[in-house]
Amino acid sequence: MNIELPDLSLVCLVGASGAGKSTFAQRHFRPTEVLSSDAFRGWVADDEADQSATADAFAALFHLAGVRLGRGRLTVIDATHARRADREKAIVLAREHHAVPVAIALAPPVEVCLQRHADRQDREFAARVIRDQSRTVERSLKHLRKEGFRRTWVLREPEQIDAATVERVP
Ligand code: GTP
Ligand code: MG
Repeated sequence: MNIELPDLSLVCLVGASGAGKSTFAQRHFRPTEVLSSDAFRGWVADDEADQSATADAFAALFHLAGVRLGRGRLTVIDATHARRADREKAIVLAREHHAVPVAIALAPPVEVCLQRHADRQDREFAARVIRDQSRTVERSLKHLRKEGFRRTWVLREPEQIDAATVERVP
């Protein structure tokens, strides 16, 4: 699948932990284009896993995303975006800056996320959290368009996620 992105997009990656969002972001975007909620937790709290820092981290992330969009820079938000309220904020921000709100959802089978989680040392939460996220994401997928994302892509199988290409279009 070739993902065509307008030059001034605000891209929301959507997917449970372990779906491969950060890997996808690293593969297809410049490091400076990607704003990750984990990195922002790190910046505001010196601990990427500090959930008490989430509100401050997102405030800082959205501020920087707004500054970038104001300067005409494509921006990617690397966060779970499982809940509608989280996606809504990004859509509002994109509209404020006349950017195109885009969703790229990575929705591999939950077993894939769970297996990757088991192989990782940097995530301490319970498997149940991933099951919940995965279910919430799955239920969200069919609503993305009517929530306001102008373009949406849903990638399901790991092979399909691996094979995806990203292209900028004017
Ligand atoms: P969170 O940041 O926890 O929300 O997860 P994420 O969606 O950003 O997943 P991430 O990209 O960090 O990938 C999770 C783990 O799966 C990492 O250890 C990756 O190396 C691995 N992984 C990601 N994509 C692939 C893939 O396409 N193939 C394989 N084999 N492993 C992958
Ligand atoms: Mg990640």
